[in-house]
Order: sequence, then structure tokens, then C-alpha cells
Amino acid sequence: MKALIVYVSIHHGNTEKVARVMAEVLNAELVKPWKLKPEELLSYDLIGFGSGIYWWRHHWGLFKLVENLPEVHGRRAFIFSTAGLNIRPYNHRRLKRKLREKGFEVVGEFSCRGWDTNGWLAKIGGLNKGHPDERDLERARKFAEGLKTKVLNSPAPNNS
Ligand SMILES: Cc1cc2nc3c(=O)[nH]c(=O)nc-3n(C[C@H](O)[C@H](O)[C@H](O)COP(=O)(O)O)c2cc1C
Repeated sequence: MKALIVYVSIHHGNTEKVARVMAEVLNAELVKPWKLKPEELLSYDLIGFGSGIYWWRHHWGLFKLVENLPEVHGRRAFIFSTAGLNIRPYNHRRLKRKLREKGFEVVGEFSCRGWDTNGWLAKIGGLNKGHPDERDLERARKFAEGLKTKVLNSPAPNNS
């Protein structure tokens, strides 16, 4: 299985910690969306898309990359994030919709709290100081192991 993780982590490197744990389990390459030509994604069996949540959505760089992709017909993707307020369905809804519109099968989602010092929160030391912590990263590891099993044990879709 060839896996790729495309991520953005601009605030405190919170999402990068999660991305690195997942990459280790999945033996995945890690890349920023602006370093990748859209067609390069098409050689991977599983692609993770993750970032911090900035103004209630993933980073624009991920949206731009997905928008520039050709239709992918059942290629497998997963979504992950870290956020000040970890409201996964709400925070992931836009990227999930965009991936599905392109023809991705979204096979898993992961999120956890991330240290947030945006705006006035800085004055009180931020929200979720210390997150992602060891427990969050252990959950990320378990999530990635589950994904690996799921993808390896189910027949490959007719990718294009
Ligand atoms: C400009 C900005 C906007 C943010 N907007 C939100 C938001 O809408 N909802 C939320 O839960 N957290 C928000 N956060 C907090 C981040 O999602 C959180 O700190 C995240 O873990 C950052 O990940 P990173 O360190 O990988 O960039 C925002 C942070 C910044 C800097």
C-alpha cells in the first residue's frame, strides 16, 4: 500500500505531530499541498488530508489542491485535524464534501484538541495547552493502524 499525507500546520505545529505519528504507522510520505502537483496524488492508494482548523475549516491550501485534481473515482482518503474546539463533524464538513465531490471515498476521520493561542486566547495562555499530548498521539497511532488494516483488507477500488 502506497500512502501519502498532505498537511498544513502553521500555528504551533500541532497537526504536524499527529501527521508524523500517522506517517510512521502508514509508512507514508509527508508533504505540504503547495509542494505537490495534483496529478502526483494519483499514484497513491491512500491519501490523508489534514491541518489545523482555521476559521472553521481546514487550511485553504488543501482545498486548492483538491479543486485542481481531476476526478478520482473511489480513491481512498482520510481527513484529520487539530482544533481549539474539537467539533469534528462541523470542522471537517467542508473538506469532506469537497473530497467526495471529486470522487474520493473517505475511509476515516481523526481529530483532537490542539493548543490554540489565536487572538485574545493568547492573553490567557491559550486553550488546550500541551495538546496534542501523548494520549492524543496514541489515539492517532491506533487510528492509523485501523486504517491500514481496513485498506489492506478491502479490495482496491477501480482507481483512475
Ligand atoms: C487564525 C486562526 C484561526 C483559528 N480558527 C479556529 C476555529 O475556527 N476553530 C477552532 O476550533 N480552532 C481555531 N483555531 C485554533 C487551531 O485550530 C488550533 O490551534 C490548531 O491545533 C492549530 O494547528 P497547527 O498548530 O497545526 O496549525 C484557529 C487558530 C488560528 C491561528
